[in-house]
Amino acid sequence: MDMSAEELDSVATFYNLIFRKPVGRHVILLCDSISCWVMGYENIRLQLTKRLNIKYGETSADGRFTILPNPCLGTCDCAPALMIDSDLYRNIKVEQLDDILRKYE
Ligand code: FES
Repeated sequence: MDMSAEELDSVATFYNLIFRKPVGRHVILLCDSISCWVMGYENIRLQLTKRLNIKYGETSADGRFTILPNPCLGTCDCAPALMIDSDLYRNIKVEQLDDILRKYE
């Protein structure tokens, strides 16, 4: 690409969907911006990390999921929100998480 490693890295860090290390088969992007934070983001984060037994940036032992924080997903009126791959979930409730995760093998 005729670029230095530093130039390539600066491009990669600009785009949040360019992963700089291996990820699971599905990537969960959990919005941690203000509307989602106010509407229960922390409970969603706690339940997801507990359920998958991973922290942000980690991949579940079965290789299914990687969870990453993400700035606003553009659906603030339906907070809290998360994305799994290209699927957007809005107005998420903790009780829905198991059903949502079950869709992804
Ligand atoms: S703040 Fe979460 S979607 Fe905008």
